[in-house]
Amino acid sequence: MAIASPDLSRSTSRFAQAQVLAAPGMARVDALIRTRLASDVVLVNQIAEHIVGAGGKRLRPMLVLLSAQAAGYAGAHDTLLATVVEFIHTATLLHDDVVDESDLRRGRKTANALWGNAASVLVGDFLYSRAFQMMVEADDMRVMRILADTTNRIAEGEVLQLLNIHNPDVDQAAYLRVIERKTAVLFAAATRLGGLLGGLPAAQEDALADYGLNLGFAFQIADDVLDYVSDAGTLGKNIGDDLAEGKVTLPLIYALERADPAHAASIRHAIETGGLDALDAILATIRGSGAVERARSRAGAYADAAKAALSTLPHSAARDALAALADYALQRDH
Ligand code: IPE
Ligand code: IPE
Ligand code: MG
Ligand code: MG
Repeated sequence: MAIASPDLSRSTSRFAQAQVLAAPGMARVDALIRTRLASDVVLVNQIAEHIVGAGGKRLRPMLVLLSAQAAGYAGAHDTLLATVVEFIHTATLLHDDVVDESDLRRGRKTANALWGNAASVLVGDFLYSRAFQMMVEADDMRVMRILADTTNRIAEGEVLQLLNIHNPDVDQAAYLRVIERKTAVLFAAATRLGGLLGGLPAAQEDALADYGLNLGFAFQIADDVLDYVSDAGTLGKNIGDDLAEGKVTLPLIYALERADPAHAASIRHAIETGGLDALDAILATIRGSGAVERARSRAGAYADAAKAALSTLPHSAARDALAALADYALQRDH
């Protein structure tokens, strides 16, 4: 049995504390998710229930709740906006699995594998538009602007990523541009919305958004590492999905930088052609080149920046919980 290092177990217990702090709010979010998923179109219910019923980590709604708490908010709109953010996230997952041709998500077959691409895209649209119906209920023009801008940027990120597919010359800057839009901006919106609800001064609201943005970078880099080093049983997604579709992520970029010409040529070929024939060889190159450690440490730098951004907020248990989530983003195994 692996024995957790003291650091790891300390940060695991801090994460457990963060979950306890968010638990009452998360129960309200779960209830609202259930009620607002409903539609009288059977297939909408089936697919939405399939993906939502599988759970997911619910990290983004937790960020809304804890940020609102850190900002001293005591009203009820945090539940509403946390649910909106989770619906937007879930919509992007339905679309993403179509684009990525993935067939495993949250330990279940993907909606596209079970019901096909058309149904998945359309139910993703249902969730997006349900989120927009709900955000109007907050009746706050700034909330609507933040969420409208964010979803638009996410869409750009996904298209940008599509343009980069099968291109072995994608560099770090191009990779970072994609993950900022496809992932980090939603994290930033989640935390900014919490600050906005609490009526924080602009500088502190910006600090919360900065925390969320950096956390989002850390989270996506960690996800991109897990795509190479985890296993489907733990991750609930198939590993090697990124390579299979010719998606260039940080572990691959780092491996290419240090690989000898023969290995570099084989990685470039795998990116250009996709597929998993070369996965084992590429995994060996990635591991041998220190790419995993370098990517993890890059994610760690973003997590540190996230934590540093929190220092301008008043001290609170919720602020500590946000800091714990930054460590969790790195150490999670799924
Ligand atoms: C998956 O997000 C998409 C990425 C941004 C990497 P999560 O890892 O938060 O997915 P769930 O909601 O927990 O399934
Ligand atoms: C994140 O990218 C996708 C979204 C932000 C929707 P990935 O393609 O890496 O996400 P997973 O690994 O499928 O969850
Ligand atoms: Mg994907
Ligand atoms: Mg991934």
